Amino acid sequence: MLSFSALSNFAAAYLPRVEQTMRQALASPQLAEGTHYAMMRYHLGWLDEEFRPAQAKTGKGIRPLLCLLSCAAVGGDPATVLPAAAALEMLHNFSLVHDDVEDNSPTRRHRPTVWALWGQPQAINVGDALFAHAFRTLLDLAPAAAPDQVIDAMQRFVHACIALTEGQHLDMDFETRANVTTDEYLLMIRGKTAALLAASVEIGASLGGAQPAQLAALRQFGESLGLAFQIQDDILGIWGDEQMTGKSAASDILARKKSLPVLYALNGTQGAALRELYAHARFTADEVPAVLDRLAAAGARPYAASLVETYSMAALQALHEADLVLPAGDLLRDLALGLLDRQT
Ligand code: IPE
Ligand code: IPE
Ligand code: MG
Ligand code: MG
Repeated sequence: MLSFSALSNFAAAYLPRVEQTMRQALASPQLAEGTHYAMMRYHLGWLDEEFRPAQAKTGKGIRPLLCLLSCAAVGGDPATVLPAAAALEMLHNFSLVHDDVEDNSPTRRHRPTVWALWGQPQAINVGDALFAHAFRTLLDLAPAAAPDQVIDAMQRFVHACIALTEGQHLDMDFETRANVTTDEYLLMIRGKTAALLAASVEIGASLGGAQPAQLAALRQFGESLGLAFQIQDDILGIWGDEQMTGKSAASDILARKKSLPVLYALNGTQGAALRELYAHARFTADEVPAVLDRLAAAGARPYAASLVETYSMAALQALHEADLVLPAGDLLRDLALGLLDRQT
């Protein structure tokens, strides 16, 4: 078995190259420099809120790592998929900027969100710009990649975008719905989160020359991992340490998100008291301790943790079936195992 440091070494070698590709993509404004690009760079952790150079926390880089490692794990050269890896990270960041508006979240990656600093209209535009630049960056796969390969990657990318917005719609819709089933929840997170993780794996593997059976197994890996990842995010969104997650705790509860632990408790036999709390027109921070008590009484956290385990195991099983090139195949496994007990 490879050590986790082999994964760290891979990340240390490639994530700076992904960042470099993103910096180049956002380097030359079409019109005036202004503060538009500076807001994007702020979100990405490269500038502070006064637009001075900064070295703030960037994301974990899970999507680019999945793309690069999947390419290597089918025998491809990860350096050739850097534009795709960067495009995936930019698309992810578009979704975060808009998600923070949609979720009314004041903090991300330990700093104020774009909308909290410059208002929702500018945040919408910052997200739109990252979205467009993500597509432009994906096109940079050409001319090194053949046109049919670029179209294949673009199709997978577009499908993930569509699924992501479908999932985000359900996520918001569920805030005001009393009866959400576990199946509906799974459909929602398949869209908002798992689709992009699955696309990251598929795009890397497809560009790397995966066989059809490998591609199918790897897609299954990415999707199951995405489900596990989002349920873990739900757990951290309630019980995570703000100092670690860099996001505001309790905001999921205050937004009446039907995250898995909440859903489980609401739908359980003891759910009446929680359903009544969630039905209150006035629902403030004062209610949060009572909600936490109800979640604990329902065993919501161990239930959610058991589903993280279930989907992680399904991911590892699919990975096993993909018959991958080593050591990259083992690094994908280590990445999945590392996400199981993440705190950030
Ligand atoms: C956060 O994703 C949003 C979800 C899909 C749960 P990440 O946890 O990958 O965010 P960063 O990029 O590392 O901050
Ligand atoms: C994750 O949304 C999915 C997207 C951002 C598209 P969440 O709202 O669950 O994620 P966090 O907790 O704000 O990062
Ligand atoms: Mg959110
Ligand atoms: Mg959200």
